[in-house]
Amino acid sequence: MSIQAELEHFQLDFNQALAEVMEQMLPGNIAPTLHEAMKYSVSNGGKRLRPFLIHLMAQSLELNMQDLLPAAVALECIHSYSLVHDDLPAMDDDDLRRGKPTCHIQFDEATAILAGDALQTFAFQLLAHADMDAQVKINWVQILSQASGYSGMCGGQSLDLAAENQAVGLTELETIHGLKTGALLKSAVSLACAAKPELALAHSKQFERFAELIGLAFQIQDDILDITSTTDQLGKPQGSDQKSNKSTYPGLLGLAGAEEKAQQVFQSALEQIQDLPYNTRSLMDFAQFIIKRQH
Ligand code: IPE
Ligand code: IPE
Ligand code: MG
Ligand code: MG
Ligand code: MG
Repeated sequence: MSIQAELEHFQLDFNQALAEVMEQMLPGNIAPTLHEAMKYSVSNGGKRLRPFLIHLMAQSLELNMQDLLPAAVALECIHSYSLVHDDLPAMDDDDLRRGKPTCHIQFDEATAILAGDALQTFAFQLLAHADMDAQVKINWVQILSQASGYSGMCGGQSLDLAAENQAVGLTELETIHGLKTGALLKSAVSLACAAKPELALAHSKQFERFAELIGLAFQIQDDILDITSTTDQLGKPQGSDQKSNKSTYPGLLGLAGAEEKAQQVFQSALEQIQDLPYNTRSLMDFAQFIIKRQH
């Protein structure tokens, strides 16, 4: 099966599992508007690449994906919350996401802020409730909180906003992209590794370095698509980075330079996992998919 076909298959299963978990754990009668906004922000339209990376890691490490499902749903909730807040007027001020009006347009700003907050805490509730060894769950909480907070996505988002209308260098941009996007992608790999305590530390480090690099490649491609793609294809506004005068790879290196950089980072990513004593074929296909994707 091609990686594209496998992703599509995975998306169907994952979307169903996500809907079921939300149905079971979030009673709609407590705060109906907030409940609607949370469901609206996570349901369909997302590519589910972070949960899919957990699925590919489960295959590679011969783990049962069913056991990793709470971590996959939790990560997608954190990611979806990051998008809801990223689109707010105080941040990127965008009105389209996953082909639909952004949460603050469909509802209102206060609801969007609260939907992000509640999705974030729901993620940790899911981890705490998982039917897993207590030590694994503590490690999961540690991994996901670090990747999404100050030392990860939030820190990166802060630097991203501070870099608007600024001339930042390549090293600084790599830090921003690594934090705002790379950290959550890397956490997919770390969450899977944590579920296999006997995994050699050296091997988990190689998997994680691979994930850091594909996280960087992913954001470089996101910057490229902001220029080369269309709003229809992206399901989010094309040209958003130019509108806010963001610091981006194409801005710094030109389009061709950014494409070359994505290629280089992709090659380094492959090198990290090529000699691991695990089947890493699908992970390599996934890395390729990331730099080839058109939306
Ligand atoms: C968009 O992520 C935000 C970035 C980190 C670049 P995705 O492209 O994975 O968004 P969805 O989940 O498919 O909507
Ligand atoms: C997103 O970066 C990073 C997040 C943590 C959400 P962007 O601002 O480039 O993401 P898009 O292009 O809006 O999806
Ligand atoms: Mg942004
Ligand atoms: Mg944005
Ligand atoms: Mg972008």
